[in-house]
Amino acid sequence: MKFITGSGLLDQRPVVGDIRVPGDKSISHRSIMFGSLAKGETNIKGFLEGEDALATLAAFRAMGVIIEGPEDGRVVVHGVGMNGLKEPKDSLYLGNSGTSMRLLVGLLAGQNFSVTLTGDNSLSSRPMGRVVEPLRLMGANIEMTSNGRPPITINGGASLQGIDYLLPMASAQVKSCVLLAGMYAEGQTSTTEPAPTRDHTERMLAGMGYHLTRNGACSCLSGGGELTASTIDIPADISSAAFFMVAASIVPHSDLTLRHVGVNPTRTGVIQILELMGANLSLSNEKIVGGEPVADIRVQYAPLTGIDIPEALVPLAIDEFPVLFIAAACAKGTTVLTGAEELRVKESDRIQAMVDGLVALGIQAKGTPDGAIIEGGCLGSGYEKVEIQSQDDHRIAMAFAVASLQSAAKIVIHECDNVATSFPNFAALACSVGFQLKED
Ligand code: S3P
Repeated sequence: MKFITGSGLLDQRPVVGDIRVPGDKSISHRSIMFGSLAKGETNIKGFLEGEDALATLAAFRAMGVIIEGPEDGRVVVHGVGMNGLKEPKDSLYLGNSGTSMRLLVGLLAGQNFSVTLTGDNSLSSRPMGRVVEPLRLMGANIEMTSNGRPPITINGGASLQGIDYLLPMASAQVKSCVLLAGMYAEGQTSTTEPAPTRDHTERMLAGMGYHLTRNGACSCLSGGGELTASTIDIPADISSAAFFMVAASIVPHSDLTLRHVGVNPTRTGVIQILELMGANLSLSNEKIVGGEPVADIRVQYAPLTGIDIPEALVPLAIDEFPVLFIAAACAKGTTVLTGAEELRVKESDRIQAMVDGLVALGIQAKGTPDGAIIEGGCLGSGYEKVEIQSQDDHRIAMAFAVASLQSAAKIVIHECDNVATSFPNFAALACSVGFQLKED
């Protein structure tokens, strides 16, 4: 499927509306995983009905968990307890979803059955050594390809020992993987991260009654605990809201409200970066829902200026860089990103994919090993139509749909099917607030 956009510059419409984007992807995955391991019935609302979270849901069904829904974001998980998962009949296919694979390998490392995890072409080329190595240190028996890629086979029956693991990179997936294996290990397991990353695993495990301590960069738990079923109200995903934050920031006269967005401080780097660039964002209705901060976010147009993005904000905005590159291309002056080499191993090499697309639109942009340098300019100037390759990456596709709002050229964005992994109704919601976007 392709996105075909209009030219936002020739026919400019402000981005106006009051919307709620779909549920948080990270929390949706974890709600199924932890609900399945709890004893009793976990009631979830606001679940993301995107392919990634549905891959996790299907995996737990295949391991014998009864799960009702999703229906209108509601899911009921009939938890089987920490040791109640059953050996699946086939390998577990996890589609495009890195979070499913990296968290599941940790959770399955200590089971008494064997299982193989597979994925699509993109997931099959993503590095898995980062999770397999610490699990092997714990005593897990795991196989992957010789270059450290999926499929991953976890041979059951290993007895795991707790470890103190110093993460070599800022990754919530690696941290979560080790902590989940730690629940099945003898003794204590701790993770220490080089920079703060999203802490949904820690919040949710603690919220469901698993004893977990946190001390600065260190999270620590002991094996053998239990989870208690609960009610989980999933906020709207700030990573999906980010597309609309940038959209309203770059189009004059825009005024958009995004409702009930998760604003966990480990996820709000995008707000801080946009504010440093001059964006006009305001938060209201701030409250805590199910242990996670949420707020309504109002975004009004404001001229943006290029900045040097502080490296400390990079892990706090790691999924938002595709659309932040569009903000940078629409800003006055130069934006410099460093310390973001992790972007090269996401669903695509996001530095390369974004730089290639921006250059096709006539923007001066250059990739560096750990980031990019982007000069603000006129998107699509001198072209009637520009073709962009999304590299099958949902966030690249949506970022260039945002770019079309300030583009002199129409944009054809190829390979947009994967938008459904994180944001199934993106095109319709975008059109409802002023985008000119057709699916073809
Ligand atoms: C996620 C962690 C991040 C993020 C991904 C979801 C999670 O990955 O990019 O979309 O839910 O833990 P890394 O931990 O590899 O940075």
